[in-house]
Amino acid sequence: MSGKVLVTPHPSMKNSAPNHLGKMQRNDPCWCGSGKKYKKCHLASDKQRLGGSKEPATQLDRMERSSEYIEGMRESCRLAADTLKMVGENIRADITTDTINTWVHEYTLDHGAIPATLNYKGYPKSTCTSLNSVICHGIPDDTIVKDGDIINVDITCNLNGYFGDTSKTFLVGECSPDAKKITAVAEECLKRGIQAATPNGKMGDIGAAIQAYAHSMGCSVVEKFVGHGIGKQFHENPQVPHFGRRGTGVRLTPGMFFTIEPMINLGDKDLYILEDNWTAVTIDGKLSAQFEHTIFLTESGVEVLT
Ligand code: MF3
Ligand code: CO
Ligand code: CO
Repeated sequence: MSGKVLVTPHPSMKNSAPNHLGKMQRNDPCWCGSGKKYKKCHLASDKQRLGGSKEPATQLDRMERSSEYIEGMRESCRLAADTLKMVGENIRADITTDTINTWVHEYTLDHGAIPATLNYKGYPKSTCTSLNSVICHGIPDDTIVKDGDIINVDITCNLNGYFGDTSKTFLVGECSPDAKKITAVAEECLKRGIQAATPNGKMGDIGAAIQAYAHSMGCSVVEKFVGHGIGKQFHENPQVPHFGRRGTGVRLTPGMFFTIEPMINLGDKDLYILEDNWTAVTIDGKLSAQFEHTIFLTESGVEVLT
């Protein structure tokens, strides 16, 4: 990779702020995995974004996990996974994306949880439905899902104050070879990202594995959205880029909970945001697919919670 590394956190992170300010020295390798020094990379943009304010504790300095906390995360993530499974059992051509939203909304409430995206920084719905060239954050509406579409459904629930986050891309009916390819590549990227997450390894190991596979298949990795720490907040430190260099970035410390959620494009990695201020679409109109799990890093390896 060359030039400037662009990492935009989820919109939700703008205020609640994973914060590297005051935790990193100017000469440390940048948290984003670029291999550059922090002062040459993200120091300025972190300062601009965070204004030097004091932020809440993050997963970089809060690694002790009570069994209550771990159980809370397991239960919330299990519900998110069950919700996604329910969607998979019902999704078909000729329904609207709003119908999927209703399923998710009702299932979540029926199980004693709250859909975390609803009213989140102004997001109006209980799930994200991202069709074809939509990369992420598609807003459910009266759009009809058609035979041959691919659609990512992203579920985040808040159960007893703990957040669980998972998504997958579904193939609807008979799909083109391109649709099958991008979906399979994105799923394999998530699998390889999880395999590369090892206790006391580095964050860059995950992105490097994802990027290497995506590029080997002629696909690109979206850089503007990244995975994230998760727990009693929807988005926490650390950020989880789906690109980078092995051996760089923050240490993967046992006790961390975070998502890996690669967005993989058939064409160019660049994107733009529609006027609704949420929907991210590929700049070239080509297909994009995404898969997401929430994982728990233990002393001995990784527990996939969703
Ligand atoms: N679930 C998404 C994620 O994986 C975030 C969606 S935020 C929303 O982090 F507001 F767009 F819903
Ligand atoms: Co997420
Ligand atoms: Co998600």
